Amino acid sequence: MAGLKREARLRADVPAIHVFSADGEKTWMPGTSSGMTENVSKEHAMNIMNVDYSTKIPNNVNLSEDRQVLKALEGWHPGYMNWWGDMGPEGFQQSLVYLRTAYSVDPRGWAKFDYVKMPDYRWGILLAPQEENRVIPFGQHYGEPAWQEVPGEHRAMLRRLIVIQGDTEPASVEQQRHLGKTAPSLYDLRNLFQVNVEEGRHLWAMVYLLQKYFGRDGREEADDLLRRRSGDADSPRMLGAFNEATPDWLSFFMFTYFTDRDGKMQLHSLAQSGFDPLSRTCRFMLTEEAHHMFVGETGISRVVQRTCEAMKQAGISDPSDIAKVRALGVVDLPTIQKKLNLHYTLSLDLFGSEVSTNAANAFNAGVKGRFHETQIKDDHRLQNDTYPVLKLVNGEIKRVDEPALTALNMRLRDDYTQDCIKGLLRWNKIIALAGYGFKLTLPNVAFHRQIGEFRDIHATPDGVLIDDATWNKRKGDWLPSADDGDFIASLMTPVTDIGQFASWISPPKVGIDNKPGDFEYVKIET
Ligand SMILES: [Fe+2]
Ligand SMILES: [Fe+2]
Repeated sequence: MAGLKREARLRADVPAIHVFSADGEKTWMPGTSSGMTENVSKEHAMNIMNVDYSTKIPNNVNLSEDRQVLKALEGWHPGYMNWWGDMGPEGFQQSLVYLRTAYSVDPRGWAKFDYVKMPDYRWGILLAPQEENRVIPFGQHYGEPAWQEVPGEHRAMLRRLIVIQGDTEPASVEQQRHLGKTAPSLYDLRNLFQVNVEEGRHLWAMVYLLQKYFGRDGREEADDLLRRRSGDADSPRMLGAFNEATPDWLSFFMFTYFTDRDGKMQLHSLAQSGFDPLSRTCRFMLTEEAHHMFVGETGISRVVQRTCEAMKQAGISDPSDIAKVRALGVVDLPTIQKKLNLHYTLSLDLFGSEVSTNAANAFNAGVKGRFHETQIKDDHRLQNDTYPVLKLVNGEIKRVDEPALTALNMRLRDDYTQDCIKGLLRWNKIIALAGYGFKLTLPNVAFHRQIGEFRDIHATPDGVLIDDATWNKRKGDWLPSADDGDFIASLMTPVTDIGQFASWISPPKVGIDNKPGDFEYVKIET
């Protein structure tokens, strides 16, 4: 009896555990299966796994004994809350949102779902468990023990990479801040806010690294991360795609599918870093990031699904009959393709120049590795290897072998494209099942580029080079025009009734946290 009672009491103390299993994306936590050795005591492992919520800033990095960093973070906190108030989601700050919060970094169960007002969300510092005896998996320091402190000679490079990653996190919140008022359902509204609070947490993750490991410079950089603003003329965010508008929900889904996926690739590369705290931080961020891409992939699936259903119902056989399709109150497939073209190419630009000495230096230094570095079968130094790069040679797009070290951006971009294709296969299956011959495709990498080999030329989505005049005449066929934008905007009327969805999007197959279709994901309070 006594034993049973004790067990019941213990259970009552433990928050309900949910593994976020609705993700189509697989989460990835390298080292979690092999990393823990018997040398690490179980108790120690539990401390790392579970998050301390007793301090103002939840963490699993023992902040209560790291007074200086705790003080710096607490000093940064009011500025962050001001930023959230000014630039976070517009409205809904008093609404109760059914959000997940990380309470552990154990991949088997790390999130807890509950109603939270967004300003009360517990933004915390969470690092994946330290892998015992981890070594640097690439570059000139290959095989040496991973660094627990910043090596002096790589300090500037590491700081720059952390700042660039950090800058993208608040930028996307700023870009998405107006979307709440046109959400197609409470389910989607909740997903938007989940993505937003987690991007906020990712900013905290980078700020922790800056404040703990980079002294005064780090503190200044942390302040600047709150100062820049997406799209601002004087003080923009650092990367192009993060200064673009996210005007409607189709853009939001495209952004979370394509641009968050660039984030995934960058985080994977940084998760390989010889600087262990950065590696551990990125590993945990990837766990959250998977949901963002899930939101994008299923969001686009649901738009495509609804369009196909509406076309079938109305007996439309030609999906390119835009006027007829739009009259049904759904987004026509050619316009979806244009949005895809835009967001995919903006995201390609985030990988930087195909041939880059910065990328080579970061790899050599052991600072930034390749996608799935530890699974690649080669010498992990790449001194004598080559990699094929698409280049412009005498007015033609050709593959040219470049030293593998300088071609690392190209390689990561290729891995990204492979990853992107999975979604297209799913969307095209929906279209094919509905009986339509239309196919969504990824445009050629020479199309609509601002960065790299193809920035000075124009090409069609099929990769045919064209002159300026042809480009100006035809670009509206390939990229969303003002008219397309106006049409999509006309569909963006909010739906806030429980279990209801806007005309242009299908309900999801499963609810978040396995909730039923009529679940009130957001209790709206204005
Ligand atoms: Fe993020
Ligand atoms: Fe994200």
